[in-house]
Amino acid sequence: MTKELRGNIAIDGPAGAGKSTAARLLAQKIDYLYIDTGAMYRALTWLALCRGIDLNDADKLCALAESTDISLACRENGDISVYCCGEDITAAIRQAEVSRNVSIVARVSRVRKQMLQKQRQMAATDQVVMDGRDIGTYVLPDAPFKFFLTASLEERARRRYEELTAAGEDVTLETVKEEIFQRDKEDSQREIAPLKPAPDATIIDTSDMNINEVVTMLLNLIKERIR
Ligand code: CDP
Repeated sequence: MTKELRGNIAIDGPAGAGKSTAARLLAQKIDYLYIDTGAMYRALTWLALCRGIDLNDADKLCALAESTDISLACRENGDISVYCCGEDITAAIRQAEVSRNVSIVARVSRVRKQMLQKQRQMAATDQVVMDGRDIGTYVLPDAPFKFFLTASLEERARRRYEELTAAGEDVTLETVKEEIFQRDKEDSQREIAPLKPAPDATIIDTSDMNINEVVTMLLNLIKERIR
């Protein structure tokens, strides 16, 4: 399929909808580069928390974003590693404290501008599957393939709870559900680049699907379009 397939693939959706796993597996199958834009916002949030920076201080956050080298690297198994000034922070950016604070950082317009530039640069040099909240609407509005993955709040909370407990985090299903709910609300209600489907995105409810079914559906939809 890669021979005829041209153009970037945008995957957006709320927390825990399975975007990252689906995007990563899809990218592997079609030999595209996977870019996890949430990891970029998480990395900046992690660094700001480590440095004790006031997350409401837009100037300091922007200066931090400008002066810090945050990079994504693809491992052999297709997983993404995240580095900040050479340090591997892949696990650290998934900590609950980062999840609780990332939406505050992500609503700062100048931070978003910097991220947007980096994300567009990456998409200009490679064919990418990029996942996030505003990829189809703002980052890659001309992407020929746009998907919006969603699922019921209950199902998304259950999936995230399983991920976190598997990683050794001490959380309850109720807390995870509440945090996801709050973060989606903040991401959907912010002024700049809120979480919402692009008008031309295909919306897929993955509540009753496993990850392989999601990837197969994405591949089939892409194949149909390029036929
Ligand atoms: O993996 P999960 O669904 O929990 O979230 P993520 O993709 O790691 O994104 C973390 C946070 O970064 C989101 O809740 C948004 O606040 C922000 N984000 C964003 O604003 N725009 C993006 N394109 C990607 C993430």
